[in-house]
Amino acid sequence: MALCLLLAAPAAAQYNERPALVGSGAPGVDASGRSIKNKRVRAIHDSDPTAQGATGALIQRDPFLAYQLGRNLNFREFRTRDGVFSTIGNLGGPMPDGTTAKITANNQLSCSGCHNLPQGNPGGGVSFHKDGGFSRNSPHYFGAGLVEMLALQTRAQILSACDTNGDGWIDVAEATSAPALNVETYPGGPNVKFGSLALSGGATGVPSLNNIFRVWFVDATGSPVSGASEVDGVATVGFNFHMVVWGWGQGPGRSALNPTNRAFYWDPANAHSGLQAFDPSTTNDPNGDGVSLPTTSGAIQFPATHRAPDDGSAMDAMGFSRTDPDGDLYMNEISEGDLDLAEWFMLNIPRPAFAGSKKDFIRGVTLMERMKCTTCHQPRWDLKPQDATFDGDRRLFDLNVTWNKTTERLEGALNPLYTKVGLDFAPNRSGFAVEGIFSDFKHHDMGDGFKETDFGGVENTLWRTPFLWGVGSGFPWGHDGQSLTIEHAILRHDGEGSSSKIAFQSASARDRERLLRFLSNLVLYDVESLPSDLDGDGVISPNFVVAGMDTGMERFNAEWLFQTPLQIQGPVTVAGNVIRSFAGTNIDAAYQQLAPYRVDADSDGWPDVWDAAPGVPGYKDGVN
Ligand code: HEC
Ligand code: HEC
Repeated sequence: MALCLLLAAPAAAQYNERPALVGSGAPGVDASGRSIKNKRVRAIHDSDPTAQGATGALIQRDPFLAYQLGRNLNFREFRTRDGVFSTIGNLGGPMPDGTTAKITANNQLSCSGCHNLPQGNPGGGVSFHKDGGFSRNSPHYFGAGLVEMLALQTRAQILSACDTNGDGWIDVAEATSAPALNVETYPGGPNVKFGSLALSGGATGVPSLNNIFRVWFVDATGSPVSGASEVDGVATVGFNFHMVVWGWGQGPGRSALNPTNRAFYWDPANAHSGLQAFDPSTTNDPNGDGVSLPTTSGAIQFPATHRAPDDGSAMDAMGFSRTDPDGDLYMNEISEGDLDLAEWFMLNIPRPAFAGSKKDFIRGVTLMERMKCTTCHQPRWDLKPQDATFDGDRRLFDLNVTWNKTTERLEGALNPLYTKVGLDFAPNRSGFAVEGIFSDFKHHDMGDGFKETDFGGVENTLWRTPFLWGVGSGFPWGHDGQSLTIEHAILRHDGEGSSSKIAFQSASARDRERLLRFLSNLVLYDVESLPSDLDGDGVISPNFVVAGMDTGMERFNAEWLFQTPLQIQGPVTVAGNVIRSFAGTNIDAAYQQLAPYRVDADSDGWPDVWDAAPGVPGYKDGVN
């Protein structure tokens, strides 16, 4: 029964708009301040930092507001008036056999319908029918920026070693002479072997890269040749690739789901909520090689394989798409600017924590080394600083969350990763040691223990080594969520994982217990209520004052860091008790709702600059 409650809870725990003040008598009230305070207005993409309220200006000049707006796109429950769904609960796209239906589509109003443990965070926890009857489990995406950056860095590193003429793809000569793909995890750390670029038939065929990579084949100009499945020396003379870092795995030759955070916003927004994004940033590929220029957040995209569902084939004079792929008459349901903000949030989501001392951490890693877990669950990877090859750490800040032995709690400290130049926040793009991530970014054959038989009967045993950070808060476990304890997940390690499982089984009871305790201390936390040093003065104030109001415990709430910080309502009497209301008294100013590119006079979700009838509510296209 307790289990049912746990699993049932998230559905009722999504986030809607509740901007009203406590005691106002309006229905949309939330004393906790955690609901969405800003109006749903399509964000406008413009890289000009002086275009007030457009995404370039938000990300460069009010970056914590951009983070919060992205958070709200990740947590928001979309409504009919926002264009959510067309049909509800239909079966989506075919399985590999070409006929069997896949995923139950159009089944959630919000990312947080599934990514919800802990609630109000990009957690995981909900399993649903995606590929087979034993379900797929939603992983958390804490630390998503670090994961994406390490994946893009690994690709850049392989290209810099093997693409000797620097044209961005691999030709036959380069494939033939490429060194083995051994990528160092951190300076002096172990290497991970990703395979070989050499073609199966010498001058023709396919490279043998680990299944986490997806390969596409190109013509003599480097352009993707659609439908090609090998280098044939005629139509295709080379190939290109990316790491599909996200997703548990889709089996041999199909890699996994998405290579970037931006794609992992527009894809589920479409699949689960029927909201189709239009995204010129993804198709901004002047040389046509299937790889875009960097987005506003600095990540390249891969239009060769991943394009947002609304292709913008019908355009409005004002620059939004009128294509309406799902035919529900709601246009441009997710805008390019929305994706800029969602991506900016995902880039900057804090990483998981370890609830123990440095010494406990080292002891745990040593145990994992002894049981050969770390051959796959690699504890550390380093991001390299920016140079001609690498992008550096593109994040705005790092929230360093550690265990305080004295107070016996997790505490955060905000470390800015930017330099402020005039009005602009410029990311430093330094290096960063990603400690405690526990993955080799590879797919492995895990044998019978983790076998999936999909709806159509196709079996798969090939899975990505999951990042174990946060695994202690990861209930349930495994790609299918069928493990209700961590130990059960370990005991399902067959195939390439079997010798490690045997090492676990033959360890002393005490060591097994210590290992399980260590894993359960790799935790998630509620980002916004965690006591945190926000202003860098080295203490966590019990009475942190923002905009003249006592907000209580100092904590990481992005609203405190806006250009115009949110002013909270503060003490109000409710039913005879004085409570502190975190509703906002200056929402328009704090959330820049009156900025030229965001103002939406008729509150129909269409900013006035995109609205042919800015005084008449028209949720579908500004007019109707
Ligand atoms: C219906 C439940 C559901 C909804 C809604 C949902 N997801 Fe997921 N998500 C999942 C599942 C299940 C997976 C794993 C899928 C797989 O690999 O087969 C996943 C995977 C992910 C991953 C990759 C995590 C990893 O470790 O590989 C990210 C990132 C992600 N989702 C982000 C989002 C965002 C952003 C949204 C909203 C736009 C969203 N999801 C909506 C269920 C959901
Ligand atoms: C051969 C590579 C490999 C080795 C060695 C290995 N693992 Fe794994 N591990 C995986 C893969 C792949 C999965 C995902 C399997 C799935 O869910 O289908 C996984 C899943 C897990 C999970 C579940 C994670 C989650 O989010 O659900 C835990 C916990 C885990 N491993 C711990 C360990 C421990 C502890 C050891 C050492 C005793 C170990 N692993 C050894 C590859 C490995």
